[in-house]
Amino acid sequence: MKNLHNALQLKQLYILKQLGSRYTDIKPSDLEEEPDQLPDDLDALRQLVETCHLCDLSKSRHKVVFGEGNPRAELMFVGEGPGATEDSTGRPFVGRAGELLTKMIENVLYIPRSQVYIANIVKCRPPGNRVPTPAEALTCRPYLLKQIELIRPRIIVTLGATAYRYLSNDQSPIGRVRGHPIQMDGYLLVPTFHPSYLLRNPSAKKEAFHDMLLVKELWEKGRKPKRTDRGNSEKEVG
Ligand code: URA
Repeated sequence: MKNLHNALQLKQLYILKQLGSRYTDIKPSDLEEEPDQLPDDLDALRQLVETCHLCDLSKSRHKVVFGEGNPRAELMFVGEGPGATEDSTGRPFVGRAGELLTKMIENVLYIPRSQVYIANIVKCRPPGNRVPTPAEALTCRPYLLKQIELIRPRIIVTLGATAYRYLSNDQSPIGRVRGHPIQMDGYLLVPTFHPSYLLRNPSAKKEAFHDMLLVKELWEKGRKPKRTDRGNSEKEVG
């Protein structure tokens, strides 16, 4: 029960903080990941995540943004964390960045948004839309890993640097790795730019478009064969 252990540890830290202690050096390596201890059912997992208080983001959130879409999706998109609209609706990618993502899915891939699954690295909004801290991202990551385990997508498109970093454990700049699929344990990871970045830097849309064409090709290529056990290697494949 490592999650319970972590929760109790955090509770003790909050109490110490309220008493005036300063604790500022939680190291990411102190946070343990136990997706195996989480429910093997997406609805049960959602219920658990909706009551999560393992990090400070739970204090300022309005709604937990668990993720949405086809629970058997072959294609999954992972972003960074909810923004203001997502925080108020409880749904991922429904603001301006979400509109662009929906267009990328429906107008380039020609797949209805409802057929894919969309989630984030952190399930609660970081105040002011700041980047989640490593402690927040690593505390929340077991939930995402469990979602991936249950949905079993064939391809995961990571949107932006944060999603790429916390799924691949690679710190390389997104501008260098985008468009280069990596074979992960069980799925193909395709990194691309975050839609918010594309809204701020429209000239990068051309590269994102190419990334989506690659996703379309990979998605169509693998449609027929039955899904089988996948290896452990993490080598670049394209
Ligand atoms: N940005 C994200 O990374 N995720 C969302 O759900 C919305 C905006």
